[in-house]
Amino acid sequence: MQTDPIGLMDSGVGGLTVLKEVQRLLPAENTVFLGDQARLPYGPRSVAEVTTFTRQIATYLRQHANIKLFVIACNTATAAALTQMQAELPVPVVGVIAPGATAAAATTANHQIGVIATAGTVKSGQYQRDIFAADAQSQVVSVACPQLVTLAEQNDLHSGHAQAVVTQNLAAFKGTGIDTLVMGCTHFPLLQDVIQTAIGPDVKLVNPGVATAEKVAAILKDQDLLNVSGQPVTATYYTTGDVAEFNQLASEWLDVKPKTVTHLAVSTLAAVAEVE
Ligand code: DGL
Repeated sequence: MQTDPIGLMDSGVGGLTVLKEVQRLLPAENTVFLGDQARLPYGPRSVAEVTTFTRQIATYLRQHANIKLFVIACNTATAAALTQMQAELPVPVVGVIAPGATAAAATTANHQIGVIATAGTVKSGQYQRDIFAADAQSQVVSVACPQLVTLAEQNDLHSGHAQAVVTQNLAAFKGTGIDTLVMGCTHFPLLQDVIQTAIGPDVKLVNPGVATAEKVAAILKDQDLLNVSGQPVTATYYTTGDVAEFNQLASEWLDVKPKTVTHLAVSTLAAVAEVE
């Protein structure tokens, strides 16, 4: 059980920003990541659809990789499906929103917090609720920035075009007085440099992936699930999209470079979920 991998999912490459933090904090853990790029973006989809996709991926990773813990490394899927997955799965399930909200509340000095996310996450109101639970004085301004997902998926992270798009999307925060900005979509830490330039040096950026990795570590420790075998660590990658594109971004971004990335057909995911 302890040598079983931690499973992580996202609609695309964004979840790699969470995986990176998990690998950094828990270098002895085996991991398996699935990016559902064929069905990206999740942001505009209904709660029911995102929940179905999340269940399919969780089921696949349970059946094929025997994951010991499931990280929903996608804010949109966390907002849609965390409670349900926690009720359905026989292993611990960790989302990214509560850890991000707690980190934001711990970061702000003036209680004015911005959140950038997908339309689905903003509509759910989950960040507002979780930030308010951690800091009752907080005021939250949330802005949906779906164009930033496209930039990240296209690996357009540092160009003048990327800067212009991000600056335009973040203009909504002018005059709000926020001192903290939550990157409430796992794709956004890939754009951290251009986001920081656009929002200015006085606003602190929160990457929920960092606090999510800490939560994963705490659960594994509490449940005596840490991998102490000393065996070589494996990192497995699946995408429902283009293997070469996934591999390029993952190789640039991660400290633990992918050895192989396997393509997975959406039909396989859908069929597996029906079997369970
Ligand atoms: N990375 C996902 C998130 O954190 C969303 C990107 C998408 O719209 O699929 O919400």
